[in-house]
Amino acid sequence: MAKASAPGKLILFGEHFVVYGLPAIATAIEARTVAKVKQARKFSLQDNRPETPGYKKEKRDQQSDSIQRILKVMGLEGEKVSIELGGNLIAASGVGASGASCAAIAAALNEEFELGKGIDEINDVAYEGEKGYHGVPSGIDNCCSTYGGFILFRKDLKTGEGIVKQLHSKAILSIVIGNTGITSNTTEVVEDVKREKQRDPDRFSRMLDDYSMIIKEAESSLDNGDLRKIGLLMNMNHLLLEEMDVSCPELEELVDIAANSGALGAKLTGTGRGGLMIALVNKETEGTVASAIEKASFRSEITRIGARGVRVEHDGTTC
Ligand code: PMV
Repeated sequence: MAKASAPGKLILFGEHFVVYGLPAIATAIEARTVAKVKQARKFSLQDNRPETPGYKKEKRDQQSDSIQRILKVMGLEGEKVSIELGGNLIAASGVGASGASCAAIAAALNEEFELGKGIDEINDVAYEGEKGYHGVPSGIDNCCSTYGGFILFRKDLKTGEGIVKQLHSKAILSIVIGNTGITSNTTEVVEDVKREKQRDPDRFSRMLDDYSMIIKEAESSLDNGDLRKIGLLMNMNHLLLEEMDVSCPELEELVDIAANSGALGAKLTGTGRGGLMIALVNKETEGTVASAIEKASFRSEITRIGARGVRVEHDGTTC
């Protein structure tokens, strides 16, 4: 039996824009998915991850497609394996649940079948697995779950390759997550955005230009540790996502709650139309923001960011 774990992620800047070749910033979070894999008499999958109600059912077919893709690209098609998923990462839209499980499964299979793949190859396998969930994913989720830390990610639209640069911030960033409880369909939302681009190319191109300015400033503000500026830029990024029509009333409510309870900035994260809202907070405000979210009957969580990427687990921890 082999066991591996990988962290969830949050996109701080640039979901959707990343699909059009612009850079995005993402970070690995503390919560992880654990995959246990062993050779068995028949294929089986036991998914014990905690979830936003309905998430796993909604994603079941995509998950099965994803696992078959992973087995195929690793040369293990037809192998009988039992896979058990667990860990403390809540399977929900926006937190990189699919990317984390793909990276963890790939690393555990690599260990169990002694394939000797290195970290970049594990990332490629996880990307192949992500296609089962996302159609043509940008690759930001699997890169973040595989390499961990804090990354600037860009997809080269000519080669399809993901380019990753590790970032560092002088400030310690604390994030409060607010969960809408709604599972969104990434492929569908990405397609809607594409249709909107075709319908009004000039407007879309103006949004890309606005975002380009935001991401340039975000990279330097993170480097300088200018939390106030990072918060403002998150608000501006959210307004563009709202204009792109990927927000929803629950996300708007969460952003308003965060702004009114002392957050430095707030935005939707990931696909949108459900999933998660993230708020940048400091030590003094993190509790107030989290309680205001809970008071409005949403789930909230405080997380530190920049966690370690995928790793094989040799200790006695259980799923
Ligand atoms: O919902 P998530 O966390 O899987 O993020 C999707 C991010 C998009 O930019 C909308 C799509 C992509 O492939 O990057």
